[in-house]
Amino acid sequence: MQTVSSVVALREMVRQWRQAGLSVGFVPTMGNLHAGHIKLVSTARQQADKVVVSIFVNPTQFGPNEDFASYPRTEQQDQEKLLASGADLLFLPSVTEIYPQATQTGISVSGLSALHCGANRPGHFDGVALVVCKLLNMVQPDLLLLGEKDFQQLTLIRQMVADLNIPVTVQGVATVREDDGLAMSSRNGYLSEQQRQQAPKLYRALCAARDDILAGYDDYPAVAEQQRQNLQQAGFAVDYFSICRSADLLPAYASDSNLLVLAAARLGKTRLIDNLYFSKT
Ligand code: PAJ
Repeated sequence: MQTVSSVVALREMVRQWRQAGLSVGFVPTMGNLHAGHIKLVSTARQQADKVVVSIFVNPTQFGPNEDFASYPRTEQQDQEKLLASGADLLFLPSVTEIYPQATQTGISVSGLSALHCGANRPGHFDGVALVVCKLLNMVQPDLLLLGEKDFQQLTLIRQMVADLNIPVTVQGVATVREDDGLAMSSRNGYLSEQQRQQAPKLYRALCAARDDILAGYDDYPAVAEQQRQNLQQAGFAVDYFSICRSADLLPAYASDSNLLVLAAARLGKTRLIDNLYFSKT
């Protein structure tokens, strides 16, 4: 596996592959890699001839009071994991390589970015859309792999790719979980031992909401409110707990059949997000 930090070197490598007729899969990350990220890489490995992974902690998607400065940076371990996972090229740019001048162009996927996490994190999804668009222009892959763990991010990037006619296929990859159900996340490392014991209750609340709906409860706001209260009693500060349509993330009605339960909740300073999709039929 080669590591490059400049866009020029990245493009040169990809150009050679393209000339040889090879397809390219791309996995963007912010590093501190875990088995969830590695699943994206191994999925890319199966579907494309060459796999590019980026590690870039993107400042524009963090709010002023968020964890940009303290976000875990573990480049050495990440490189070892990527080597073992079969990635071909690691793109490890500096902030100035990605944002060399004050950017004047923004990307806002206006409807989706206002919902759910967007309501609690103003500007977050504009930062995500901008960096993913820039990275896609830098790598120009055939296939972009994103985790369903961040379902709203995945939906928003699909929308951006369609709206801007970006020539890439977007593929979602199922969430990788710990044995107790907790979705793997770089932020799980912030949890104290006691918070770590509590954390799987978020996934259990999603499952309970799904089970209620499958058992026939069709007052979705009431189902969501019940789980919100359960989580609050278990010590979480709940940002949102929503039952929506998996296609557009808008509130679901009893007549909808493809549903997504999604939630964000904080344990101390650590914000956890998770979701579960299912079909009623
Ligand atoms: P990051 O949080 O590092 O996640 C990188 C990719 O890994 C995302 O597509 C995310 O959905 C996926 N992922 C994270 N945890 C996962 C899990 N438990 N199972 C499966 N996939 C998982 O998401 C970002 O970085 C950034 O916003 C980024 C897209 C790189 C733009 O800066």
